[in-house]
Amino acid sequence: MVLTAYDVIKKKRDSLPLTEEEIRFLVNGYVSGEVADYQMAAFLMAVFLNGMNEDEILWLTRVMRDSGDIVDLSDIVGIKVDKHSTGGVGDKTTLIVGPIAAAAGAIVAKMSGRALGHTGGTLDKLESIPGFRVELSREEFVEQVEEVGIAVIGQTANIAPADKKIYALRDVTATIESIPLIASSIMSKKLASGADRFVFDVKVGRGAFMQDIEDARELAYYMVKIADMEGKKAVALLTNMDEPLGWAVGNSLEVMDAIDTLKGKGEPHFTDKCLELASWMIYLANEAESIDEAREKAREKLESGEALDKLREMIERQGGDPRVVEDYSLLPKGEKVYEFKASRDGYISAIDALKVGRAVMLLGAGRQKKEDEIDYGVGAWFERKVGDEVKKGDVIFKLYYNDENKLKKALEELAASVVIFPEKIEREKMILDIVEN
Ligand code: URA
Repeated sequence: MVLTAYDVIKKKRDSLPLTEEEIRFLVNGYVSGEVADYQMAAFLMAVFLNGMNEDEILWLTRVMRDSGDIVDLSDIVGIKVDKHSTGGVGDKTTLIVGPIAAAAGAIVAKMSGRALGHTGGTLDKLESIPGFRVELSREEFVEQVEEVGIAVIGQTANIAPADKKIYALRDVTATIESIPLIASSIMSKKLASGADRFVFDVKVGRGAFMQDIEDARELAYYMVKIADMEGKKAVALLTNMDEPLGWAVGNSLEVMDAIDTLKGKGEPHFTDKCLELASWMIYLANEAESIDEAREKAREKLESGEALDKLREMIERQGGDPRVVEDYSLLPKGEKVYEFKASRDGYISAIDALKVGRAVMLLGAGRQKKEDEIDYGVGAWFERKVGDEVKKGDVIFKLYYNDENKLKKALEELAASVVIFPEKIEREKMILDIVEN
């Protein structure tokens, strides 16, 4: 019988499991233009409503992975370990865990993305460093990874174009929030990126894709499972994303925060989270025999300053000014400062990561549309975090900005973003769970 898009859609509509051939037919047909937008949209909605089993998710992942280039890093000797975050506010984790893991001997050959929406992108943060190049030739990339142990670049290869096309359709058909679709979308790109092992940082909370711990656990389960089925070891950490991470949100401010963290002056909970992620990278890279040994190594690399040296070396090798590590005045910073103050006495019980992320984007730190230019120096710097006591009038965070109109919009977004309670509340744990193969 000749396969048609209609049959595949109907089967999924009726909750019948699909075969590998049916999934391949539909996705490849969509990429080539034989399957129409409206057919793919109907299929995606059927998946959204009826889900997919493990095999279907794996087949969908594979066909999207195989739709474009698959990066081959096999010429770099050793285990390449990658860390992937599902996106957060103030998430400068890569700039910290990459250097810690590399200082401990792990090989970090990382391709990162740009900001879109309320979450920042590692590439934009790195580009706030004067001279920093995120585009290296393949030879430069390989040479740097071999000699320094770490390079972070933008994606040049044509990775998973089927996912790109399907994601754009999901974005306008209310089908983003489907765990099988998210898991296969992320994993199609990860499996094409050339790494051998993965540490996933699956965020849960107000500022994250997953607002609910059970959903996050399910997503983590599938991501780890898909990696496993492809013979690549992985672990997922479920981490809290209710309040912004660390002290800063905004590109150059986050670079300063990352450097501070590597100097031992980071926000303590965020520092612990970075150490845990780096430990799993070190462990998966076989640079420690147990996770506890990896934890010791990660801490030692942070405390000895070797991880900071690694970041400095990476910045210099990629054309950036390494003096930024000591002299933050070399980094851009908004010219004007607005102090966001406590409206009453009490304890901070919540700082809404989503509102802060959106406000910082409105100041100019992110993009609402792909072609928007970024203002690298704007953002928020926190003086207080959840759990801290404040008196009325105390500064909770400072906004660095350049444009009064943008500040006005950001402040509208920040209304009711900080909740102050009369009694001290217990802070949520940073690491909520760990999902292994
Ligand atoms: N990130 C992705 O790459 N894909 C999704 O579907 C969701 C988040």
